[in-house]
Amino acid sequence: MHSTSILVLHGPNLNLLGQREPGIYGSLKLVDINRLLKEEAPRLQLEIFLMQSNHEGVLVDAIHEALGKYQGILINPGAYTHTSVAIRDALAAVNLPTVEVHLSNIYRREDFRHHSYIAPVAIGQISGFGERSYLLGLQALVYHLRDKSQEARI
Ligand code: DQA
Repeated sequence: MHSTSILVLHGPNLNLLGQREPGIYGSLKLVDINRLLKEEAPRLQLEIFLMQSNHEGVLVDAIHEALGKYQGILINPGAYTHTSVAIRDALAAVNLPTVEVHLSNIYRREDFRHHSYIAPVAIGQISGFGERSYLLGLQALVYHLRDKSQEARI
């Protein structure tokens, strides 16, 4: 039994990965990314739970329900990154360490993608490394959690 559990949230349109703008998002499907994450989790001694939704409220509910169940959240909020005060407020409310990830480098794209409502309530953001953004994000989150529990023991 692992002591650290992480919730991985994929936002809108990420269910179409593989067929969706492959020049930007790559050819992997969401199941492939989830498989990579599931392979990485035991190496990091983590338990992960994965979900995808196209609905803002469903993502907000999942964030609320994470409290008490998970120690951290890895989220690709998709387009809600640039629009959702509700998802930002939910993350701020539960106050669980959160890492924001993006497959594409949002700062090399259209101006409207340059602003993230999520970044100010996240520990950090990883953007532009394709599926590796998720793996790097998971590592960053677990290292952060382990540093914190180390600090608590000193
Ligand atoms: C994305 C970037 C967002 O701007 C976009 O709306 C997405 C995917 C990414 O992973 O690169 O849906 O979050």
